[in-house]
Amino acid sequence: MGVGVLGTGHYVPPKILTNEDLEKIVETNDEWIQSRTGIQERRIADDDMTAADMAYNASIQALENANIKAEDLDMILVATITGETPMPSIACILQERLGSVNAAAMDVSAACSGFLYAMVTAYQFIATKTYKNILVIGTEKLSKITDWTDRNTCVLFGDGAGAAVMGEVSEGKGILSFDLGANGAGGKHLYQNEAGHLIQNGREVFKFAVRQMPDSVEKAIAKAGIDQDDVDFLVPHQANIRIMEAARQRIGIEEDKMAQSIRKYGNTSAASVPIALSEEVQNGKIKDNDLVVLVGFGGGLTWGSVAMRWGR
Ligand code: ACO
Repeated sequence: MGVGVLGTGHYVPPKILTNEDLEKIVETNDEWIQSRTGIQERRIADDDMTAADMAYNASIQALENANIKAEDLDMILVATITGETPMPSIACILQERLGSVNAAAMDVSAACSGFLYAMVTAYQFIATKTYKNILVIGTEKLSKITDWTDRNTCVLFGDGAGAAVMGEVSEGKGILSFDLGANGAGGKHLYQNEAGHLIQNGREVFKFAVRQMPDSVEKAIAKAGIDQDDVDFLVPHQANIRIMEAARQRIGIEEDKMAQSIRKYGNTSAASVPIALSEEVQNGKIKDNDLVVLVGFGGGLTWGSVAMRWGR
């Protein structure tokens, strides 16, 4: 048997914040934001909507698409840096709300790479036949930790959640290989300050990402014993269209084979890969038997890639 994704789901809040709206908040303009980042607009959760609420909505959709009952989940893993409190974890909040009484639950903290780390963790439990069904979620309410007076960062981020139910799939399908890594020495380039705001050295993170994303993808596909030409679809972390383009060109895949939800949602950190994955499955761009590569990078610094054969 293989270990793969049984169903996906995503949720973004309805409120749209455009680049023009941001022009009224900080000294910036639509041309600068679009040319430097590719972002046109992002979604912002209302004050009373938490990262757990968004995770819940994405999870319901993923469970429906997977045709798995909440009580049949053995584990819930939530990748996030924006829970309301460190304790209880969002995973435990969800466990109660979903009624997943048989599931162990924990949050995973690896910033924008969190969903990849959580997915690989789920893979270990299922591959060893310890657990059968695991719900993996990336959810973020970044608007809560954004400094809305800092134009260097506030134009970049958005809110949302994506989810995947993982379990056993047919032989030859599912996860073929993965690559995870970290460089704690680079942590100073991307962090939360004492006021709780997200701070980054954009140029350093940019250099790191442009190098690390293709490196990680190359490692994962080499481990899977496949060729770059065999990749049917790339789902990269949606942080900056220029970073994504640089990675795409180095990996050598066509533009229409890369998920690009950054224009609509900005950078949603741990939620960006699962939101993009769920959207591309829904719109039919990712099909049965496709070779799909997911890749993320972020605070820590951390990175991760997963190569998988899509389908059950
Ligand atoms: N509007 C207008 N001007 C701006 C804005 C803005 N919103 N923000 C910065 N500028 C100015 C700067 O002040 C600077 O002006 P100066 O030259 O007078 O000092 C100028 O624009 C150029 O700034 P740069 O930093 O050189 O711009 P760059 O092309 O590097 O783009 C960016 C900045 C978009 C942040 C880029 O560096 C980037 O995307 N970095 C990677 C960020 C990332 O991927 N983060 C992911 C992790 S997030 C997470 O883990 C949650």
